[in-house]
Parts: sequence; structure tokens; C-alpha cells
Amino acid sequence: MTEKLIIQGGRALEGSVEIAGAKNSALPLIAATLLTDGEILLENVPRLDDVQTMLDMVSELGKSVKNTGSDTVRIAGSVSSNVAPVELVRKMRASFLVLAPLVGRTGRAEVPLPGGCNIGTRPVNLHLEGLKKLGVEINQDDGKIIAEADNLKGNDIFLDYPSVGATEQLLMAAVRARGTTTIYNGAQEPEIRDLASFLTELGADLSLDGSILTATGEKKLGDAEYEVLSDRIAAGTYMIAGVATGGNVEVRSVDPASIKPLSLKLRKAGITVEEGEKTIKVKSNGRPDNLEVITLPFPGFPTDLQAPISSMLTLAEGKSVVKETVFDSRFGHVAELSKMGADISVTNSNTVFIEGTDNLRGTAVEATDIRAGAALVIAGLAGEGRTEVSGLSHLDRGYSQLQSKLESLGATVERVDSDG
Ligand code: EPZ
Repeated sequence: MTEKLIIQGGRALEGSVEIAGAKNSALPLIAATLLTDGEILLENVPRLDDVQTMLDMVSELGKSVKNTGSDTVRIAGSVSSNVAPVELVRKMRASFLVLAPLVGRTGRAEVPLPGGCNIGTRPVNLHLEGLKKLGVEINQDDGKIIAEADNLKGNDIFLDYPSVGATEQLLMAAVRARGTTTIYNGAQEPEIRDLASFLTELGADLSLDGSILTATGEKKLGDAEYEVLSDRIAAGTYMIAGVATGGNVEVRSVDPASIKPLSLKLRKAGITVEEGEKTIKVKSNGRPDNLEVITLPFPGFPTDLQAPISSMLTLAEGKSVVKETVFDSRFGHVAELSKMGADISVTNSNTVFIEGTDNLRGTAVEATDIRAGAALVIAGLAGEGRTEVSGLSHLDRGYSQLQSKLESLGATVERVDSDG
């Protein structure tokens, strides 16, 4: 049954919302449990379709997986297979992160190449070149990667691009490699630090110095109890929704430093942003001012908030420019926002031009990826009248309890059968 969200727009969001664990941290952490036969208790695990897919993946590979609470999962046992099921990798690209743990743990791995998706081609060359530097033999057969290594050997690796996934993949290989591995130009996203502290908890010997990550491998890894980092992108999404609707929204249980690029941009747009120990509060002062935004690897402005902030800027005073430098086609929201009356267009140099308007009109729109979906929900909340958002399978991958959280902020949101 396909469903859609019905949003009655035009009401300012007011209130406070608890932020759950980060999807983009939970996924590599769950993959990393394949590195050890120890017992792992993960806390603050978000209830998301993508997280369930990764739990299914490690379960298929031999792990016992038990939900021990609303957001805690116990993962234990040894790996009994090193062949990743095609259907799970096809469902979610991040499943490709099981490659390094499997080859590090068993000496071999068969993992289907992840397809592209709606935001770009998304190659994995940096993953594979890095693994080869650690002594992994990589072959490709019938759309699958066959990786083999009797022993992983530490080495220096330079990443041409600070890829989040490649950095995670190579960190997980490095902790099983004999000797020292140094990754230069590694990603610095908070989720990388979260993975590194989880691996350290397991007994790995790691140090992070900005974009230089060093690991000395060959230690037997043990057990761990670990709390997943809060989702800075979900937090940023609710902050932007508060501003777009002219409201006041507080997000709780999130580290302000992890979403500083957005907070500083919102202040530049004339928004009051108050940071507490683990809270951030945004207070609108009328329509936001226009902005220039460029997405970059952390600590730059996060690409995952490009669509949401573009949605907010369609209601700003004046012209805004948003340049996407991380992915090559992350603009599924542009055509849909235009349907709602936004004056927004994208050039072939990945730049979005926006002329702010004082209102958007509700209509039927379709989400094409997780963050484009968030942008459309934000536009529906801020716009006049009724907006119907379809393509909820995308939103369900990235935002846990979205409807109830929006309702707790005063939104009028219904989830109905699409034929309804
Ligand atoms: C992670 O994707 C996130 N996903 C993405 O979040 C996020 O947008 C992205 O990092 C950037 O922050 C997860 O963590 C599960 P990359 P990832 O490797 O690892 C190119 C969301 O909405 N590249 O840093 O795939 C790639 O094509 C998702 O939650 C290569 O060329 O991102 C892209 O243009 C979307 N070769 C750029 O690097 C490679 O081997 C950044 O990709 C790898 C990547």
C-alpha cells in the first residue's frame, strides 16, 4: 500500500522536539559489528527502514540481532557467511560498507556493487583503491566485488576526495590490518568520529587528527556498549522547518557543534539561534533574509541540508544562490517546489537560483530522495493550503517518527493511503 502525507500549511511551528540517533552513524556502526565476535549493545538506534536493512544484512551474515528496547539493539555471534545478499545491497547503498569488515574478519567478501541513486552516480573507486593499498585483491564478476586478502597490511592511503563512505570502509579495514595505516584527506564528518570512538571502544588503536586518521591494527576486538550520535541532519531539518514557517523550534539531545554550519547560516539570514549544552533553539524574526550557500565536506555546509535550506529560501527576502559541490544531481526537489509557486531553477553547473516569494501554494508533489522529501514537507508546512507529499518510502528511510514530531510542533499532518 502506498501512502501520502496530507499537510495543511500556513501555521508557524512552535515547540521542542527530541532528536533521535543518526542514520548515517548507526549504519556504519552496525556494519562494524562484523569485525568482532564480541557482544555489542547499541543505544539510541533510530527506528528507520535503512537501519532495519543493515540489521537484516548483519543477521544474514550470521550475527544474532535482538531489539532489546525502543532504541537499543544487541548484536552478537560470529560471521557465518561472507556473501552479501544482492537484494539488501540493492535496497541500500550503505550496505556496501560490509565489504571491509567481511574481508578483514574472514579473508574474503562478495558484495554486489551498489547502484547509483537519485542524487548521482556514486562510484566506489576510492573504497576499492584504498583496500588494494592494504593488500586486498579486488576482482569484479557479474556486478559483484570479490575481495580477498590472507592478511591485511597497514599502509599510507591518500583519498583524492574526503569521501565519508570510503573513510569509514578504510577505517574498518585498517583496524584489522597488521601494522599502521594512515588515511590522508579523510572525511571529518561527526559520524566518522563516532565510528572511530566505537572501534576504540571495541579495543582498536586509532587516532584522528583532522583529516589524518591513523590506526594500528591486528588487535583482537572485544565487546562494547555504545550510544549512537544524534542526527545532526534531522536536527537541521526541524530547525529549517521552524524558520520556513516563521515559528520558534527547539531541538533537543543534539551537539550544537555538529550543526554549526547551519546555525551560522541561519544567523546570517537574521534568525535568532540560541545554543545550549545539547539543545538549539531557532526564533524567527519575520521572513528570513536571502543567503548564498555552498555545500562542502564537513566542516562545510552539509549537502544533506541543501534541499531543505533551498526550500526555506524560496520564502526569503530577495535572491539566493545554493551551489551543490558534493553530488552531481541532487536537485529532485527543484521541479516539485516550482509546482508550489517557488521561483527556483538549477543551472548545469549544479547551482540553484532562487527569487524569494512571500507564499507557496499547496499542491500534490513527489519525494525523489530522502532530503528532497524533507524539502517538500517543509514547503508544505510553510505554504498556504493543502499539500500532498507522495514517495514516503524515501522519507521513512531517513526521518523516524516524522509525523508525530511535526504534530508535536503544532503541524496538521495526516498519513493516508494514496488512494484515499
Ligand atoms: C554519506 O554518503 C551519507 N550516507 C550521505 O547521506 C551524505 O550525503 C554523504 O555521505 C556526504 O556527506 C551515509 O552515511 C549512509 P561520499 P557517501 O562517499 O558515503 C563521490 C543521506 O541523505 N565518491 O562522501 O556515499 C560521490 O560520488 C545520504 O542521508 C567517489 O567519487 O558519500 C559523491 O559525489 C545521502 N568515489 C562524493 O564523493 C567514491 O569511492 C561524496 O560521497 C566514493 C564517493
